[in-house]
Amino acid sequence: MMEETLKEIRNQIDSDLEGVSTEADLVRVKAGYVGKKGSLTQLLKSMKDLPKEERRQAGILINATKNEIEELIEKRSDEIKRKIMDEKLLEEATDFTLPGRGMPVGAKHPITQVMERIVYDFERMGFEVAEGPEVELDYYNFEALNIPKNHPARDMQDTFYITDDMVLRTHTSPVQIRIMQTQQPPVKIIAPGKVYRCDSDVSHTPMFHQIEGLLVDKGITFGNLKSVIIQFVKLTFGEGTNVRFRPSFFPFTEPSAEVDIECQICSNGCRVCKGTGWLEIMGCGMVDPAVFSSVNYNTDIYSGFAFGMGVERIAMLKYGINDIRLFFENDVRFLRQFV
Ligand code: PHE
Repeated sequence: MMEETLKEIRNQIDSDLEGVSTEADLVRVKAGYVGKKGSLTQLLKSMKDLPKEERRQAGILINATKNEIEELIEKRSDEIKRKIMDEKLLEEATDFTLPGRGMPVGAKHPITQVMERIVYDFERMGFEVAEGPEVELDYYNFEALNIPKNHPARDMQDTFYITDDMVLRTHTSPVQIRIMQTQQPPVKIIAPGKVYRCDSDVSHTPMFHQIEGLLVDKGITFGNLKSVIIQFVKLTFGEGTNVRFRPSFFPFTEPSAEVDIECQICSNGCRVCKGTGWLEIMGCGMVDPAVFSSVNYNTDIYSGFAFGMGVERIAMLKYGINDIRLFFENDVRFLRQFV
């Protein structure tokens, strides 16, 4: 009789548990067996009515079933918990295989890149970086560089005047004077920086960048100037780039030359080289004795050369850019090409 009842209870639990899908359901099912009025509890209570000899055996059987049922309920509970957790994880899932949003990476401005590269190349040739003010005295910008008061470069159209004797420097050449005033030869400097001219079109902006070079020592010749410039051209435009020195004039160098490189765009004449096949990249020459005397260098002992180039122009030729204003519009579609 007791065995029969236990068997029924044992058989009932499997189908009960199958229907359970929440913890609350499970608590209810559990109560139906081992709660105060649960079937197993009832059975245990009814043991007192059994004859003494049967009680022990009945107790063992009931408890065995009770343990088994409790184990099954425990197992089901674990299953429900895991199922709930799985559903929750799926719902809140982070897909680690999705591509990241990424942080856009910034880069130096192309002009800065070209300028730093050129400065680096000259540093490797033993030049040291020098700097001077952008707001400059007339004396350094013109007078000491042998540019007389009536020189066309002083025309109001080219120069931004701050006061009668103060300007925004129109070139980096005043750095030459400032360095020579404070330093005896040998001098071997490279001076990168901003310069200003009242001018604006496809190849001119009111502010642009120059790199100045100055080398003064005993026995410096035009041959030394040529070798340094040719080395620079090879490093900047490529080993096979041809260079030519064309006679020119600057008040602060004598003799003076302009340096041309082979046109990077055509081989036999185009609009950029104006049909000549050559592109001008810088001015240079042997330091004029008049400049040396303004800084009290002894011209019997020392000689030197200087050169100056526009960084925007070098960058335009290097990358085939046809409008200088692109450098200053900060259009990311343009800038991104130089990352
Ligand atoms: N300062 C000159 C310019 O701006 C360039 C230059 C520098 C020429 C040094 C000769 C020597 O055009």
